[in-house]
Amino acid sequence: MYKIAVAGTGYVGLVAGVCFAEMGHEVTCVDIDEEKVNLMKSGVSPIYESGLENLMQRNYTAGRINYTTDYHSAYKNANAIFIGVGTPEQPDGSANLSYIATVARQIAESVENDCLVVVKSTVPVGTNDKVEQFIQDFLVKDVKVEVASNPEFLAQGSAVHDTLHAERIIIGTESKWAEDLLTKIYEPFHIPIVSVNRRSAEMIKYASNDFLALKISYMNDIANLCELVGADIQDVAKGMSFDERIGSKFLNAGIGFGGSCFPKDTKALEYIARQNGYELKTVKAAIDVNKEQKTMLYKKASKRLITFNGLKVAVLGLTFKPGTDDLREAASLENVPLLLGQGADIYAFDPVGAENFAKVHPEGKNGKGSITYVSNIEHALEDANVCFIFTEWGEVKTLLPETYRELMRTPLVYDGRNIYRVEEMQEAGVEYHSIGRRP
Ligand code: UGA
Repeated sequence: MYKIAVAGTGYVGLVAGVCFAEMGHEVTCVDIDEEKVNLMKSGVSPIYESGLENLMQRNYTAGRINYTTDYHSAYKNANAIFIGVGTPEQPDGSANLSYIATVARQIAESVENDCLVVVKSTVPVGTNDKVEQFIQDFLVKDVKVEVASNPEFLAQGSAVHDTLHAERIIIGTESKWAEDLLTKIYEPFHIPIVSVNRRSAEMIKYASNDFLALKISYMNDIANLCELVGADIQDVAKGMSFDERIGSKFLNAGIGFGGSCFPKDTKALEYIARQNGYELKTVKAAIDVNKEQKTMLYKKASKRLITFNGLKVAVLGLTFKPGTDDLREAASLENVPLLLGQGADIYAFDPVGAENFAKVHPEGKNGKGSITYVSNIEHALEDANVCFIFTEWGEVKTLLPETYRELMRTPLVYDGRNIYRVEEMQEAGVEYHSIGRRP
């Protein structure tokens, strides 16, 4: 078993750290935020992720994981240091690497033994060459430090499961020593390892995410055409999915992809291409389609209603997908301001995302309209003139079609997640608009 340090305790870092501890390694997670460190020590996860707190508590009690702000003591004798800090998008689409650089410098100043630095964060191709050089430039002790790329493929909401049961682990190394060490660290996971060079590993992450984003945008594009020609996107997707070359996953048309990854990674790869004098036309198209898709339902509803002014609008779901309290690039963030700007009185329901949303849009009067957060769906729907579904939370999916007719003033529903069958909503007397299907 190895002594592992993890820099950054966001989705990537914390989940990796906890899973390494679960596999028996001795882990120290480092974060600059003292409050967050104390929270984690008391067994509380700073992020909402199913199963995570359980594992945090179990491994902390067993003494396999600790949390600290003291990076020096965490790094100095570590066999491997995993970097999982953020690489946020900059206005031009490029990735901000300042957090990685800060950690790299701290590592160079702290390590006292040979050590492998493993970058889990998504970084532009070639970055890890620079990180290695950067560490060499600042290295204080005469020890061996190499950098490996080990991109992360977990999805929010199922992060722990995705890490413990990943379909593959990508390791990008430039020496046998680094490859062997990383392979041994991952041995207890019993997951197939794909070993490539560093730049290919960096590229695999972008190419995978952008391919999935492309798949979604393609389905959204086809869905919009389906509506015009009278086809049904769900039937079309079903028919396509039997072809194993296409597969059945990520064929769900909807209100566009959100989250911290697809929007950022599509723009980042497009930027990388541009920097290299190449135009990545497919990825650019995926970005363009997604931009339009986010407000597709709002545009449809605007045509149907004369105005939103003074209307009670039920908004079901605020997060970018179920199972997370994350709002980054969520469709709600684009649509709610448009509705408020038109004077709508919004009643929003989200089982975990409302608190974060209220930080951006405080409850009460808001622009020309107002927003109220409710903890049960019925309250949002009661007497509403129109309802928008932005996230397919279980609480929304299990709602019966009749409920809309019984509770709403006018049962008019715009569903961005195609939760219901068109026929069942029609039979229940609901005017139902969705994505890629005729009302
Ligand atoms: C995504 C990838 O799925 C992970 O493999 C990757 O590791 C992660 O990014 C990352 O780079 O860190 P995530 O952003 O958490 O994970 O969420 P997804 O489940 O992939 O969903 C992203 C968005 O696509 C959501 O808004 C979702 O609603 C949308 N989506 C997904 C669709 O509109 N249709 C689909 O068929 C699937």
